[in-house]
Amino acid sequence: MTTSEMTPDRTKAARELLAFYLEAGVDTLLGETPVDHLAAETPPAPGPATTTLASAPVVPAAPRVPGSRPPLTRAAQAPAAPATAPLAPDTAVMAARDAARSAASLDELRAIMQSFTGCALRVTATQLVFADGNPQARVMFVGEAPGRDEDLAGLPFVGRSGKLLDRMLKAIGLDRTSAYIANIIPWRPPGNRTPTPQESQICLPFILRQIELANPDVLVCMGGPSSQTLLGYSDGIRRTRGRWVAFNTGTREIRAIATFHPAYLLRSPLEKRHAWRDFLAIKQALAQSKQ
Ligand code: URA
Repeated sequence: MTTSEMTPDRTKAARELLAFYLEAGVDTLLGETPVDHLAAETPPAPGPATTTLASAPVVPAAPRVPGSRPPLTRAAQAPAAPATAPLAPDTAVMAARDAARSAASLDELRAIMQSFTGCALRVTATQLVFADGNPQARVMFVGEAPGRDEDLAGLPFVGRSGKLLDRMLKAIGLDRTSAYIANIIPWRPPGNRTPTPQESQICLPFILRQIELANPDVLVCMGGPSSQTLLGYSDGIRRTRGRWVAFNTGTREIRAIATFHPAYLLRSPLEKRHAWRDFLAIKQALAQSKQ
């Protein structure tokens, strides 16, 4: 069926179906022949084999209704990177280490990550999600990976869990001018799937360097993956949250704590009382380290 054959009813139904797919994390239409997106770093052209929902010609563009979902288009294209063969995982980890080490400032680190081609997630993500908040803040919060809202905005924690994080920050007198926020993985995994261990290993040198350069007094790891990756825990977050540990940034030792991820708190509101305790401990640690 062509778009010209679509009645208003069918258009509405198609729009709702696409919105449902996107909400469920299905943002790519698969065809019958495979396409190697890693071989060419530029976004795939619409065609019979693979078409992103963002570029699918099913629904004609419509004016944006205030408060409605964002349009089904890429908010910003990642800058075109040269077409190169994907790096082997070990090579990619080494390349990430060298690249991260070479960054002398957070701005340089962001630029280096922008052009880093060693992590396949950048191909499917809309853009790099580097950080939000104040890089000079005394406390840094690290989550897992951007979701759809973050991928579109290019900023971490702007969706529902971000709104909850903002309320939690406010409860202890903080906001995005007094906190710095980033993720272990700076590109959205397709469909919000869990990042693979390889992807985490490749991205690890970048977040470590980001912590070192931001140089906070207190590091807060939100959720199991962030706590396990940065603090080396093997237990789950329910066992590891709320404990202070030493974290070596590379230049000095700071205090670090694991707490629940806001997305988990949205699903399990009863756990908020534990998160509240963690946040009070963070407030106290900041007051102490000021003296
Ligand atoms: N969850 C995360 O871990 N990070 C984000 O930026 C958003 C949701």
